[in-house]
Amino acid sequence: ASAPPLADRLSAPVIPVIVVADAADAVPLARALLAGGVRALEVTLRTPAGLEAIRRIAAEVPDALVGAGTVTRPAELRAVRQAGAAFAFSPGWAPELSDAARDEGIEFVPGVMTPSETMAAANRGHRALKLFPASVAGGVPMLKAMAGPFAELRFCPTGGVTQENMAQYLALPNVFAVGGSWLTPADAIAGRDWPRITALAERAAAARG
Ligand code: 3PG
Repeated sequence: ASAPPLADRLSAPVIPVIVVADAADAVPLARALLAGGVRALEVTLRTPAGLEAIRRIAAEVPDALVGAGTVTRPAELRAVRQAGAAFAFSPGWAPELSDAARDEGIEFVPGVMTPSETMAAANRGHRALKLFPASVAGGVPMLKAMAGPFAELRFCPTGGVTQENMAQYLALPNVFAVGGSWLTPADAIAGRDWPRITALAERAAAARG
């Protein structure tokens, strides 16, 4: 049986967007987020260490649900699946990514920021979409507007989501989670300030719409 969709496997409706400079930080970072109640981790491919970070978290932190972010090229879907990623996010919509994810059997959440992209993704069977960059695309009013024509779709807004505004997003029935980088500040990772990251995760996990 295939795993239930990502939206049903979250411990809290918040997904940190993680940029790792040094793969050695991946496991303690993942444990710090888990300790704060956040289990789904989007590790971006923005740095060369990203793929190795996914591999280490998948191998060493079994309670985490690790996925890949910033997937932009079809070949990356095989690489992240082989590394152990349970899901993959893209900042944008590209049909070839959707096809590659289906071929690899990895759950794929494409990014959209217009109704046309949303229709293209929905017509390929996607029901969970990333709204990116959410604040620039129109934020909460845009998601409310999208609920009219696209009532069956669910969104994960990222880009400009913060601890302060996340509850407004989560209050919308068509939002299944929010994502963002505020949970894993670069200076906290560089300084290996894991307690600070656990505290940020706890605060975010406690927020409800
Ligand atoms: C993403 O890829 O989702 C964004 O880079 C996260 O945006 P943020 O830094 O505004 O949270």
